[in-house]
Amino acid sequence: MKGIILAGGKGSRLYPMTKAVSKPLIPIYDKPMIYYPLKVLLMAGIREIMIITAPMDCEAYKRLFGDGSQMGISMHYGVQKVPRGIADAFLIAEDFIAGDSCCLVLGDNMFYGTDLEQLVQKAASRSTGATIFGYAVKNPRDYGVVEFDKQGNVLSIEEKPENPKSRYAVPGLYFYDAQAVGFAKNLKPSARGELEITALNEAYLSRGELRVELMRRGMAWLDTGTPEGMLNAAQYVEAVQSRQGIYIACPEETAWNQGFINDEQLRKIGEELKVTEYGQYLLSLLK
Ligand code: G1P
Repeated sequence: MKGIILAGGKGSRLYPMTKAVSKPLIPIYDKPMIYYPLKVLLMAGIREIMIITAPMDCEAYKRLFGDGSQMGISMHYGVQKVPRGIADAFLIAEDFIAGDSCCLVLGDNMFYGTDLEQLVQKAASRSTGATIFGYAVKNPRDYGVVEFDKQGNVLSIEEKPENPKSRYAVPGLYFYDAQAVGFAKNLKPSARGELEITALNEAYLSRGELRVELMRRGMAWLDTGTPEGMLNAAQYVEAVQSRQGIYIACPEETAWNQGFINDEQLRKIGEELKVTEYGQYLLSLLK
């Protein structure tokens, strides 16, 4: 399975910050936003990853991750010239996906909780259809919204509906089988001029191949799309990290837990960063 992080998009609600910096490079507390979705891909066992960025931002991501070998992964870079929508990722990444299944995560989506590992590993292990998630929120209007019947079957998915049919928003984390690229090629731009990820999910739904898993109470899916959302996310990370002394979204730690890198490789990164708390944390994992 391949992984894609979409780090393009408009980021307009965070203007003027996003005039200078690609949104997923803005820090959430003590690390760049993109570390949080990257960790989710590593947790799912995915080692071949493409980051899709706006043309002018690509170099910054290359500085941050290089070829990925430090984390025992292979990092690729794709460019989205114009923000044409989330599903455009599958057209840009067609050669990279090369007929494989694929997980797409948005560069500004943060997830945390005990159930996360099991949820993503289960989704990654399915070889057919699509798996997306549902998460109860107060403001479903801002998201893709999924409607269920009493048995939990999916009836509809709507993008930012005026009158949401449920409280369940669809987070920016999607698992697809090899059909996704073909389906994406048949999408038409929506009223806002984008190839909507919701339309891709509808293609799976209409074939009876869409599974929606609920992220339940205790799982955190945080929005970083507004200044308040960013502050709340940073406070959440700070509260958990300083209380427990464990890091939320340390990709090197996840890579090490997954066996992508060994003790020596982790030690080397920790030594390089040892003047920072981040480096000291990595070294402490080896004690
Ligand atoms: C996008 C998707 C929406 C999804 C959301 C998750 O919204 O279109 O379906 O619920 O990401 O973050 P946008 O970022 O375009 O507002």
